[in-house]
Order: sequence, then structure tokens, then C-alpha cells
Amino acid sequence: MEKKSRSVTAEGVAIQQTMHQILDAAPKIVDDPISPRLIDTAGETYKSVAAYFESAGRSVRSPFRAVFIMRTRYTEDCLAESLALGVRQYVILGAVLDTFAYRQPGWASAIQVFEVDHPASQEWKRECLQAAKVKIPANLTFAPIDLEITSLRDGLSAADFDFRAPSFFSLLGVTQYLTAEAIESIFGFVQSLPGGSEIVFEIIVPDDLMPAEEASVFRDAASMSAERGEPWLTRLRPIELISKLTERGFSRVTHLSPQAANDRYFRERRDDLAAWSAAQMMRAIV
Ligand SMILES: C[S@@+](CC[C@H](N)C(=O)[O-])C[C@H]1O[C@@H](n2cnc3c(N)ncnc32)[C@H](O)[C@@H]1O
Repeated sequence: MEKKSRSVTAEGVAIQQTMHQILDAAPKIVDDPISPRLIDTAGETYKSVAAYFESAGRSVRSPFRAVFIMRTRYTEDCLAESLALGVRQYVILGAVLDTFAYRQPGWASAIQVFEVDHPASQEWKRECLQAAKVKIPANLTFAPIDLEITSLRDGLSAADFDFRAPSFFSLLGVTQYLTAEAIESIFGFVQSLPGGSEIVFEIIVPDDLMPAEEASVFRDAASMSAERGEPWLTRLRPIELISKLTERGFSRVTHLSPQAANDRYFRERRDDLAAWSAAQMMRAIV
């Protein structure tokens, strides 16, 4: 059955992105002037999240925030690289408050961007954009799709997606909310697209692949999300995904290990940002 209410988890992501803009040292991992405009930093929700992380201590609050900004930065770095190799469409799956389209760099004007999410969540995002007076760019299409109900082929054809163009997909902070079948169907769809198409996605790994402190924070996050009606359904193992996606026929499957993410983005920073093991990035190219 289609979800009638908007996602409540999306706001939490925008809050973490906003905290990065406000609290972390320059240079930012992601320069995002839009997220702070989409949420009320004087409101109760922002204040209670800020207070929770203040009390959680340094070893938790910065690395937790780093999960959100690292996945955004890595994805957009991959997109920039792939655009140079011919990608022409960017589909953000489970986008809700993703801000790429509204702060897009000049190079992105050459691509069509699609935001996919539950219809109710997209409706809410449009209201947030309007209230913040954020302009909807000409190269953005909203594609209201429930990934558990409608196939990407059907949902994107209704949004004038060009199935002949190499296309880039992101799936950030979403796999844990989907069934294994819905995730498989997304992989199958991307794999059916022209060579050079790809998907960059984030997974939450099982507890045995992360230190105890992270496991405890992520168990709390999962139970808070379940209480608010968005249970976590799926955790994935990088090593299993590498063989599965390779068997499916993807020509290049990459796992960004936490160590590699730290080397790439967090080395020599003047703040406590660091990659955690709980949420890890993968990339699969057709
Ligand atoms: C934690 S938010 C992540 C938002 C965004 N990708 C980001 O990183 O800021 C999870 C998102 O997945 C979306 N989502 C979850 N299940 C979905 C489904 N079955 N179909 C479409 N979107 C879904 C939610 O509506 C929500 O926007």
C-alpha cells in the first residue's frame, strides 16, 4: 500500500547537513547553502537533535554527521567523473530533501536531474522549497514513485526519462528502508541501461562489521526510525554485494572502505569528522 504521510527521516538528514554548515571547520566536505534554508534552526526539532548530539560526546557526534556529508560528497564526486565520460541523466532515488539540484555546479546544467520519492514526501519537499523561496531549476523533474510498488521502468517512463542515455543513480540513506526485492529490482533496472550507466549507493552493514559504539548508535537510530513508522528492513555486506553485482553483469563494482573514505575526505581536518564503519559506500558501473 502506498505511503500516505511524508518521510520523517529526511528531516534528520537535512539537520545533519545543516549542522555541518554551522559547526564544522572550513573547507566544508559539502558546501550546502540550501539545507539550512529548508529546516527551522530555531525550531524544537533542530534544537532537540542538536542537544542529543551535544550530550552524546565528541566520539559520536562528528562521525555520525560525517556519514551524511561523506555519502553526498562521494556521490557527487563520482557523478562529476562520470559526466565527463558521457552520463546525461542523474536520478536521485529516495531524494526528499537532497539539495544537489538547487546548488548544482555549472557542469550539471548539461544533465537532466530526476528526484524520486514517495508522492507524499515530494509534496512536502515542494512546500519546503516554496516556503524557503528556493527556485526549482529548469533541469529538474520530480518523479513520484514508491520503490516498493512501482518499477523504475514504469515510474521513470511517466517522467520522460531517456532510456537510451547513460544515466547515473544515487541511493543514499535508503537501502535500509527497502525490502531486498525492491533493492534487487533497482539493481536490475540500472544494469539494463546503456553501458556507462551506474549506481552509487549507501548500505548499513550488519553489527558484526562495526565497532560496538557504532552498533549501539545505529541500533538507537533504527529503533527511533521504527517508532516513527519507518523500520529498517535491510542490512547488507559489501563482500556479498561485490559478487552479486558482478554476477549480474556490472563491469566495475567498487566498495569505498571506511579507511579509504577517511584517506579521501577526512585526513588532516581541523575538526573531529571521520568515516564510520556502519554506513559504507558502493558503486556499480554497467
Ligand atoms: C533517510 S531519508 C534519505 C534522504 C536522502 N536520500 C538523503 O540522503 O538526504 C530516506 C528516504 O527514502 C525514501 N524512501 C523510503 N522508502 C521508499 C520507497 N519505498 N519509495 C520511495 N522512497 C522511499 C524516504 O521517503 C526518504 O526520503
